[in-house]
Amino acid sequence: MTPAASAVDLQPEHPILRLEGVAMTFGGLRALSRVDLDVQPGERLAVLGPNGAGKTTLFNVITGDLAPTSGTIQVLGIDCTHLPSRLRPRLGVARTYQKTRLFPGLTVSDNLYLAQTGKLGRHLSLWRSGADERLRTRAAEMAARVWLGSEIDTVVGDLSHGQQRQLEIGVALVTEPQLVMLDEPASGLSRGERERLVQLLEGLPLETTVLLIEHDMEVALRVADRVVVLSEGRLVAEGTPDEIRNDRVVHDVYLGDHHDRTGSGNGREADLDG
Ligand SMILES: Nc1ncnc2c1ncn2[C@@H]1O[C@H](COP(=O)(O)OP(=O)(O)OP(=O)(O)O)[C@@H](O)[C@H]1O
Ligand SMILES: [Mg+2]
Repeated sequence: MTPAASAVDLQPEHPILRLEGVAMTFGGLRALSRVDLDVQPGERLAVLGPNGAGKTTLFNVITGDLAPTSGTIQVLGIDCTHLPSRLRPRLGVARTYQKTRLFPGLTVSDNLYLAQTGKLGRHLSLWRSGADERLRTRAAEMAARVWLGSEIDTVVGDLSHGQQRQLEIGVALVTEPQLVMLDEPASGLSRGERERLVQLLEGLPLETTVLLIEHDMEVALRVADRVVVLSEGRLVAEGTPDEIRNDRVVHDVYLGDHHDRTGSGNGREADLDG
């Protein structure tokens, strides 16, 4: 066990996630500006904001895919600002990506299997070991939970787009993360698939903390119990789903001058008012 992992067990009183003064610049572009954020264990937090607001960048600095320019990130009280992303699963952090990162030439089972070996710190390998059967059983259970039970031996490249999104969530959840971060999980899903996604997220264990980036307001506001809104790299609003629905700033961010400059046509007006 790593020192970080043993410290997790000793410090349950901390927020699961604490960001202090987190900033990220790309050359001259300030993608995040002094973001402070605490997330408590079991919270379901939606991160909203227009295109380019910095939502994915926020995820990337939390997961260590990017090192922030300044500020600190703690998971359960442990400063992991500079901890490499490959070690984050051992802290109980898992995520999905806006663009799928599955292994397209492998089966559903293989993808769910490899996700578990990755968390155990093993090299990615389909080589059969003593633990193999247990991990394969867990893979099959998770496939069923994301409605892919009958596709367990299907090669990922043969799945529909929606099924691949479901599998991606399964890959994140199969490691039993304490904190799961989903970047636009509903994008590209049909209405029926979105409904199943909401049910899946609502059915997660109460202690699982969820961070959700989602442009589909209905999905975001149904799943979340707290919402933060990013605009131009700053947190500009925070509240319950009901408060956010009625927030002037949120309407300005989505529907005002700023939004006109950064592109529209994604149906958010109807979503927010609906
Ligand atoms: N690796 C990078 N290098 C340079 N610029 C980047 C990089 N990643 C993000 N950016 C820029 O940072 C800003 C924030 O991008 P980010 O992807 O975080 O936005 P977002 O809120 O996730 O948007 P979307 O809703 O379109 O996914 C954008 O201007 C983007 O072009
Ligand atoms: Mg994004």
